[in-house]
Amino acid sequence: MFPTQGFTEIVFCAVNCSVQVLGYGTYMMNHLKEYHKKHEIYHFLTFAAKDAIGYFTRQGFTKDIKLPKHLYEGYIKDYEDAMLMHCEIDKRIVYTHFVSVTQSQKHIINYITEQKLERVQGVQPGLKCFSEVKRTVKYCRKYQNIRDPDDL
Ligand SMILES: CC(C)(COP(=O)(O)OP(=O)(O)OC[C@H]1O[C@@H](n2cnc3c(N)ncnc32)[C@H](O)[C@@H]1OP(=O)(O)O)[C@@H](O)C(=O)NCCC(=O)NCCS
Repeated sequence: MFPTQGFTEIVFCAVNCSVQVLGYGTYMMNHLKEYHKKHEIYHFLTFAAKDAIGYFTRQGFTKDIKLPKHLYEGYIKDYEDAMLMHCEIDKRIVYTHFVSVTQSQKHIINYITEQKLERVQGVQPGLKCFSEVKRTVKYCRKYQNIRDPDDL
């Protein structure tokens, strides 16, 4: 943590390989973000190894470094074969609720989509207005002595 520079560098972030991709990495990162909100530090930097870029991207990190270079240059070590990534912490988000909130949003969206699909796929009674129009056209044709194509 570099409080004077307003950022923290994430290093040696690892989850035991027997329990990877079970959500522990996300859990860890969300708690770390909440901790940093309390300390009013809103930027994370990390040198992501090639294999970890996917994980950091899902945690909100991007290759687009929005932090001015003079704030971190000389403070963090430049690793070879690793990509510098930045994550800005949003003080409005409660990160420890993030997973449950996004899961609820997914359920709501699925529910609305299913409801709409049911409505679209359901068989509707035909529109009566067209038969009324046809009858009127037939009457007009007869009145004006025009031959009806149905009678040809
Ligand atoms: C990177 C690491 C910490 C992630 O921890 P984890 O507990 O496996 O992560 P999670 O289960 O929370 O996964 C979160 C998301 O990232 C994805 N993810 C995890 N590891 C990934 C990887 N190596 N590549 C691409 N995506 C990955 C998961 O599929 C998951 O995606 P989803 O949200 O769409 O379901 C862990 O894989 C690890 O210890 N790797 C080895 C050490 C390392 O590379 N550390 C980074 C230092 S640069």
